[in-house]
Amino acid sequence: MAGVVTAGVGGNVAVLAGQCDGRQRRRRSSSSCKASMSLVPATKFGGAVGLRTKENGGRAWRRELNSSAVLGVRAEIRTEEASADSVAMAIPQTQQAWVYQAYGEKEVMSIGEVAVPELNPDQVLIKVCAAALNPVDSKRRGGKFQATDSDLPIVPGYDCSGIVVKVGSEVSKFKVGDEVYGDTSEFCLNGPKQYGTLAQYTAAEEKLLAKKPQSLTFAEAASLPLALQTAYQGWQKAGIKEGHKVMVLGGAGGVGTLAIQLAKQVFKASSVAATASTGKVDLLKSLGADVVVDYTKQKLEEWPEKYDVVYDTVGKGEGTKVVKPDGGLVVITGPVEPPGFRYVIVSKGSDLEELNPYFETGSMQAVLDPQGLFPFTKVVEAFGYLETGRAFGKVVISPIE
Ligand SMILES: NC(=O)c1ccc[n+]([C@@H]2O[C@H](COP(=O)([O-])OP(=O)(O)OC[C@H]3O[C@@H](n4cnc5c(N)ncnc54)[C@H](OP(=O)(O)O)[C@@H]3O)[C@@H](O)[C@H]2O)c1
Repeated sequence: MAGVVTAGVGGNVAVLAGQCDGRQRRRRSSSSCKASMSLVPATKFGGAVGLRTKENGGRAWRRELNSSAVLGVRAEIRTEEASADSVAMAIPQTQQAWVYQAYGEKEVMSIGEVAVPELNPDQVLIKVCAAALNPVDSKRRGGKFQATDSDLPIVPGYDCSGIVVKVGSEVSKFKVGDEVYGDTSEFCLNGPKQYGTLAQYTAAEEKLLAKKPQSLTFAEAASLPLALQTAYQGWQKAGIKEGHKVMVLGGAGGVGTLAIQLAKQVFKASSVAATASTGKVDLLKSLGADVVVDYTKQKLEEWPEKYDVVYDTVGKGEGTKVVKPDGGLVVITGPVEPPGFRYVIVSKGSDLEELNPYFETGSMQAVLDPQGLFPFTKVVEAFGYLETGRAFGKVVISPIE
């Protein structure tokens, strides 16, 4: 069904008819969403009440849109399936979102009604089309980062793709109707957003976002930001250079599948090795791994090769077994021993912009788990699957309507 949303823009009101294409695609294809703009009379809106949060400086807020005297701009996102039965509606005061009131297992989450976030001047409001899950969502929900977390209740989720429906007064990079994607929390452990992406709407600073590559579906784009930037920044910090021989520990995960492709396509490593279990060896070779070490059969301490740079996404302290004495070892989870160092992602839309061309040209691919997309109602089941630790690539929630 075509989703249709209405947004306030500056003092005016915009009506945006849009569809988030939730269908899973195996190959790159152009986005199904096309936008067109036309003027229409403004619709009548009510007020909205927001919660007191750390993000809005502890202010509770009330928004009243007096629309009686304004004209709006209609931005219609037409799709293959878009039809005359598309129904225009206002940006609601409240929205459906996954939310938890207390830390715990995945069952603490439920779908609830929460306020649509108010925008800071540097933020855009996104109608979320797809969102990806990350292990950090589970760790955060389990209370691991309580000391630095935002206030409860929390709407989880870092990654999303969607359509801009409203822009803050200082936003210059995006306009209503733009298809965007990003990791909406600059720091994933230190003050992540209280209102995350497992929701119909989310707010994010424009510096955290990039335009969605046209070659990617919303689901594919949503799968990328946190894992892609972690992989990209980790390789950079570890000093990867063209011609290096590198190894990825945990090549089949969300980060690993992208780390392999980045090493090969972006950093031009001369050889990329990765570890995985038996059933995933061929999949990793199809992503560009030259050598795949089946960790269920081969002990790394007996592996004859040593690498210039090792990227450890597994966290069992095994990087030191395969890195050269003067090599680089980036560790994103678990214990760290010299020469290793711990790295934690910082979300930057500029990283996504730099990497967009690799997805546009098809030299890199978004990797969605073969299990398929999970609909918005199945977020608990999707987390159950992610938390097995066996997912291949990314677990994505789509459609979100
Ligand atoms: N520091 C940061 O900024 C940062 C950012 C992102 C993620 N992380 C952390 O990094 C870790 C990985 O994240 P992710 O998103 O890639 O996780 P993920 O997608 O859940 O990883 C799942 C994959 O791990 C593989 N795996 C499990 N045990 C393995 C082993 N012993 N050797 C090789 N592969 C193994 C599995 O493949 P098999 O089925 O073949 O075993 C599976 O495909 C998580 O702990 C996450 O929290 C940290």
